[in-house]
Amino acid sequence: MAAPADPRRPWGCRLGSVSRLNDPAAVAREYATETGLAARRALYESIDGEDMKEVLAQTVLALAPDSILEVGPGGGELGQRLVEAGVADYRAVDISPRMVQLVRARGLSAEVADVQSLPFADGRFDCVVAAWMLYHLPDLDRGLAEMTRVLRPGGSLVAVTNSERHLSELWSLVDEQRWELPFSAENGEAALARHFGAVSARRVEAWLTLADAEAARDYMSASPSRGHLAARMPALAGPLRVGSRTCLFVATKR
Ligand SMILES: C[S@@+](CC[C@H](N)C(=O)[O-])C[C@H]1O[C@@H](n2cnc3c(N)ncnc32)[C@H](O)[C@@H]1O
Repeated sequence: MAAPADPRRPWGCRLGSVSRLNDPAAVAREYATETGLAARRALYESIDGEDMKEVLAQTVLALAPDSILEVGPGGGELGQRLVEAGVADYRAVDISPRMVQLVRARGLSAEVADVQSLPFADGRFDCVVAAWMLYHLPDLDRGLAEMTRVLRPGGSLVAVTNSERHLSELWSLVDEQRWELPFSAENGEAALARHFGAVSARRVEAWLTLADAEAARDYMSASPSRGHLAARMPALAGPLRVGSRTCLFVATKR
């Protein structure tokens, strides 16, 4: 008889190696330039299905916040979209000076800071956005406590992350182990519940296409923690369809 599905792991992943995505030296190296981030983002140009970036923007705008802090904004694409949609008070912090430079080049307010020690007063923001960045924190609880502190009571953290089975059709070709993310679709709700009142989760799945083995190898090479596996990529008979499995959380401050 098949084992019952674990509700915390709806995609049925098996845990194995723990990622080193939250090693500060590796994070600093990875985001010293935008090269790796841009190479990984390019895969999403082939998206077939719901686009989490769009779900994220719509979710934040539906909350109608007057003030937003985005932590770990990368190149600032979301910030620009939010400001163009009418958000007047948008601030961003990123630990990478290069990312801050890119956000400022869009005319947005950004400064270098660690989300684990935010340079803002208690209750300063209606909304905090953390997209694909919480798995980089060496001390997740310290970061979540800081984000809670700078939110007003009733304000919301909107966080996006990947499932431990994100792109599993690709990674299973080179590695038998599943990957345990420090903040994932599977473990994120429990982490947020330690700091917030209500927490909701919305899973979003879509399909992406890698044209051939070379494209797959290039994508793997751009991974900050698993790039070394690219050398194991086998030949492919044709394009490879891979599942993007992500989750958006909305967590409300009591
Ligand atoms: C995977 S990128 C995500 C970028 C963007 N949010 C997106 O969705 O494309 C992670 C970002 O988080 C930033 N970051 C990592 N650790 C951080 C920390 N402790 N405090 C602030 N930013 C951090 C990185 O420099 C990078 O810009």
